[in-house]
Amino acid sequence: MTQLITGQVLTFDDDPFAVPPETAARHEPSGAVAVAEGRIVGVGPVARLRAEFPGASEVSHGAHLILPGFVDAHVHYPQTAIIASWGKRLIDWLNTYTFPEEARLADPAYAATIAERYLDLALAHGTTSFCTYSTIHPGSVDAIFKASATRGMAAWAGKTCMDRNAPDDLRDTAQSAYDESRALLDRWHGVGRASYVITPRFSPTSTPAQLSALGALWTEHPDCLMQTHLSEQVDEIAWVRDLFPDARDYLDTYEMHGLLGPRGIYGHAIHLEPREVDRLAEVGAAVVHCPTSNTFIGSGLFDMSLTGRLRVGLATDTGGGSSFSMLRTMAAAYEVAQLRGQALHPAQLLWLATEGSARALHALDIGRLKIGAMADLVVLDLASTAAISQRSARAQNVWEAVFPTIMMGDDRAVAQTYVAGKPMK
Ligand code: GUN
Ligand code: ZN
Repeated sequence: MTQLITGQVLTFDDDPFAVPPETAARHEPSGAVAVAEGRIVGVGPVARLRAEFPGASEVSHGAHLILPGFVDAHVHYPQTAIIASWGKRLIDWLNTYTFPEEARLADPAYAATIAERYLDLALAHGTTSFCTYSTIHPGSVDAIFKASATRGMAAWAGKTCMDRNAPDDLRDTAQSAYDESRALLDRWHGVGRASYVITPRFSPTSTPAQLSALGALWTEHPDCLMQTHLSEQVDEIAWVRDLFPDARDYLDTYEMHGLLGPRGIYGHAIHLEPREVDRLAEVGAAVVHCPTSNTFIGSGLFDMSLTGRLRVGLATDTGGGSSFSMLRTMAAAYEVAQLRGQALHPAQLLWLATEGSARALHALDIGRLKIGAMADLVVLDLASTAAISQRSARAQNVWEAVFPTIMMGDDRAVAQTYVAGKPMK
């Protein structure tokens, strides 16, 4: 049974950082996405799709804009309940707010509650897939994969490994990190839409032995992603230098232990040395821009010109990030780029939040309105509030119509979210 989901449709034929942004995209003012068995089977003008699928049922979203569901490439779902905690920078913020909350996820019932709450919030904000850290507790990984499977969502997640510089109740060992990560990988990787991600939190909280153990696990499972943090704050970088006197730079602490590769995803990557950028580019690794986090915990301004050399994803980094919304995250990316003299086009912002993040995750069947891709969609109301509608009413083209929603929109702008073709509200 085929269904036509109709509205305005925006598709990308190209990377808007590689070609002039407006030429990368195609706008269909009276468009449709045809869906069958959870996948996209057609995209284009509604008249053409009606002719192509004569028996199809229709759901009309009027003049709302249909996009691929947002892909959040770096989030900490266990930090859902401590989002917007006041007054600290990275290391103090971790010790004061984050670690005590993460310790609470030792209780599988609490982990399940937070996983459900996170996914409800993500979907309400138009996010249909995500790559998340869990806590050191294997049950926290089970919780997020189970809750995602219930909703049919594509999920990337891994046990966050730490064997030093963390409280007693949040430390594993090199061996238990390897064993528990491997058991979770065997249990979840490739099951339904779940993908296991090898997850050393960051160099300061792993001994060289633990980094090596996880590097070995990655060598044994090279199809898995590996996620960690890189060069987020200057104090953190100085700490890494003290902890790893033999490393050439922060990235080298990972490379020395087998944790640099094409499927590596490095969060933040703000204060990079030229050598680090060169090595990331040589291996084809991805970095993830987390702009609300970078301003909220005072980390710095990501350099968007890296898009010319590296795969770059976009992410909330909830709860270091101050929002669950990829719209708010695009707005922050715009503002951060402005502070560096880089004006991001709405096409670039929307692409980062969808296909850009999907590419960072090596996911080919999400983040795109293409035949064969999963029908994970978000439908945006471009006039969701009085402030936005008085602005979008003047729009001369789709970019002027969507930009006020990027800058001022929130969950009220999300008219509908589809996961594998199924409406989620
Ligand atoms: N670096 C190590 N752990 C974290 C975390 O939980 N959040 C952020 N923003 N940075 C980190
Ligand atoms: Zn993070």
